[in-house]
Amino acid sequence: MRKLLVFVLGVGLVAGIIYAGESAVSAGAPQALEQADKDMMKNGAMKNMDKYMGTMEAMKTVLPKAVMAKQAASLKNGKKLFNSTTALGANGQACASCHPGGATTGGTVQTPMKSELTGKPYDLPVPSLVGAAATFPKFKVPNDRVITVSEMANNCIMMFMGAKPIPLKSQEMTDLTAYLHSLSADAKMEPGKMPGMMKMK
Ligand code: HEC
Repeated sequence: MRKLLVFVLGVGLVAGIIYAGESAVSAGAPQALEQADKDMMKNGAMKNMDKYMGTMEAMKTVLPKAVMAKQAASLKNGKKLFNSTTALGANGQACASCHPGGATTGGTVQTPMKSELTGKPYDLPVPSLVGAAATFPKFKVPNDRVITVSEMANNCIMMFMGAKPIPLKSQEMTDLTAYLHSLSADAKMEPGKMPGMMKMK
């Protein structure tokens, strides 16, 4: 009986591993640190720790100044990227072309792909991004899974701006995401909430 149980659990585990291996989003098994990571921690992290937090005085003066300056620079660059017609897209569009000032044109846009059911592209209403970041992580149809607001920016870049997605770990993506979050400064965090025009009961 016990052997059978072990067998069943074993098969389940293998099936689970195969399933996880097939899903494109699996992060894989944890890996040991590489030398480059160790160097970063030793040379980078410790140096910065000493600079910003080495003394009480630094923590009270140098650190807060750095936080304010670095956050402001990230936000500013994110806003610039959002409004640029050349930085992220390959078809002359900016995020702001559809989401002006983070709001919406109020119109609809067509998907570049046509429906297999009707042979026509889909008309999608453009949502406002005010409060939108606070509704992520959220299920999105093209991905058929729950994604982050940064991955959603890449959806728009691919679908509507004809360009390659930008790496999620890039400073560009972090800055763009900082701007998207700033549009949710007064919003309640509600992961999974649909845009206003698609009310959930
Ligand atoms: C051609 C018009 C167009 C452009 C350009 C565009 N978007 Fe979108 N955006 C849309 C449409 C349409 C949707 C709704 C699609 C959906 O939710 O799946 C959307 C949805 C979103 C959402 C999700 C909103 C929510 O509440 O679910 C975010 C975030 C977003 N866009 C960010 C961006 C960013 C950042 C850029 C620039 C990199 C960008 N968009 C460029 C049309 C556009």
